[in-house]
Amino acid sequence: MYDMVTTTPATQLIIFGASGDLTRRKLIPALAGLQAAGNLDSSVSIIGVSRSKKSDEQYREELANSIPSELRDAYDKMKDRIFYHAADVTVPEQVKGLREYLDNKAGGDEVGRLFYLSLKPELFSKVLKALGNEDMLKTSNALSPHWRRVVVEKPFGHDRESARKLNDCMHDYLREDQIYRIDHYLGKETVQNILGLRFHNTIFEPLWNRHHIELVQITVAESIGVEKGRAGFYDENGAMRDVVQNHMLQLLALVAMEAPTTLDADDIRNRKVEVLRALHCPDASDVAKQSVRARYSAGEVDGEAVIGYLDEEGVPEGSDTETYVALRVDVDNWRWSGVPFMLRHGKRMSKKFTEIKIQFRTPPVQLFNRPDGMSESDFRRKLKEGSLCQARPNVLTIRIQPEEELTLSFGVKTPGADMIMTPAKLSFNYDNFFHSESAPAYQRLLLDALQGDPTLFLRADEIDASWLYTDEVIAGWKAADAPAIVEYPAGSQGPDIADELFTGCEGCWSRG
Ligand code: BG6
Repeated sequence: MYDMVTTTPATQLIIFGASGDLTRRKLIPALAGLQAAGNLDSSVSIIGVSRSKKSDEQYREELANSIPSELRDAYDKMKDRIFYHAADVTVPEQVKGLREYLDNKAGGDEVGRLFYLSLKPELFSKVLKALGNEDMLKTSNALSPHWRRVVVEKPFGHDRESARKLNDCMHDYLREDQIYRIDHYLGKETVQNILGLRFHNTIFEPLWNRHHIELVQITVAESIGVEKGRAGFYDENGAMRDVVQNHMLQLLALVAMEAPTTLDADDIRNRKVEVLRALHCPDASDVAKQSVRARYSAGEVDGEAVIGYLDEEGVPEGSDTETYVALRVDVDNWRWSGVPFMLRHGKRMSKKFTEIKIQFRTPPVQLFNRPDGMSESDFRRKLKEGSLCQARPNVLTIRIQPEEELTLSFGVKTPGADMIMTPAKLSFNYDNFFHSESAPAYQRLLLDALQGDPTLFLRADEIDASWLYTDEVIAGWKAADAPAIVEYPAGSQGPDIADELFTGCEGCWSRG
């Protein structure tokens, strides 16, 4: 059970980009979810800020239309605490007006303020400067009752250099403890459980290393294509920047990190950043061998014909942007050296699923499943040659979505006279066990930001290390002799050529 948000006598949550998609689809429903769960104190007011003029009442109505029906009651209970203020927050005069507006609300400027930048990334620095210059971000320390915090949405920069500039700009006005860089994957219950699974249980950790693990596979597969109205933004970023640089590298870091000393935000983040820094930075020839970039062509998803990426509305002609990436990543440290981390993300794949597979090594000698009529010596010889592969490795699957599940596969002897092993699995499913759905990621993250817990947010150095790796891969793709982007039909598993990334190790891409 979460705590109620009561960190200060009153709190203002100020959302810049109040009319945007994220606010309507995620933030307000998340707040209504907090309200429904009894986690949102009545002293929290929500102030939407964007340029168009509208009244509080109009804004409340507008938001009401996108509230899921099951949250409607909760929304109705909180809607009187939602306000709207029209301002262009890149214009100093209008920021001054906003300040006066906020100061005139109950509690004056003695309240705690959470500024949520749900804006286009190019506006982040401008808005921060404007707020900083109006003295709106100053606070004595993290525990002050009139705290000031800023949440920034992804993408955090377009590359390492721009991310550094943005960090520098933030640090001109804010201490690191005031900055909450969001990666919504960290708010997912099953992602948080990775640390619980690894460090609360003792059975996994002794095996969690290069001696026992053959490979790790992380998949973020989506069946949706580029969403309406998003093509311009997406095309400038592509799959690598949109999902791999942030969500997938965070999943990798959680799987690969050492045990933190405590669960304090900085202890966990120190451990994650060590892994991100250990990612082998590939040169152009590594990138050519260890990555595949692709784009979906027309195909069929869930029985419906869909168009290819290049024909999507808003995609610029001649686009070379990838909608799919597959990578073989090396983590150069003592625990993981030699263990491939296979990462794959794509849009318009056959189905949506996110999962992590930890594949353990196969037994050194195969004793079981000799085919009927084959002599023991033939069996041994064929296994050695590799012409008969009977071993099935144990695999621990952390299913993040749509099902929230853990499964461990193993072999059991089939009843009967022969020593024939059949694959079986142990499963744990969140829904079945807890009989309740996990709270959406944004609900958890908003609560933490309001309460001042930065554990599930990214620190500047994590972002920096993620970009270091990402930039190298992207640079490799731009090299003169880099392999060209390939195509895969929408609704497929991605391009076949990505199978080649498994060369030299036992395994294949999960079909979910
Ligand atoms: C976002 C990306 O960060 O994550 C989207 O910008 C992507 O392109 C989304 O669709 C995936 O999130 P989830 O929670 O649906 O897996």
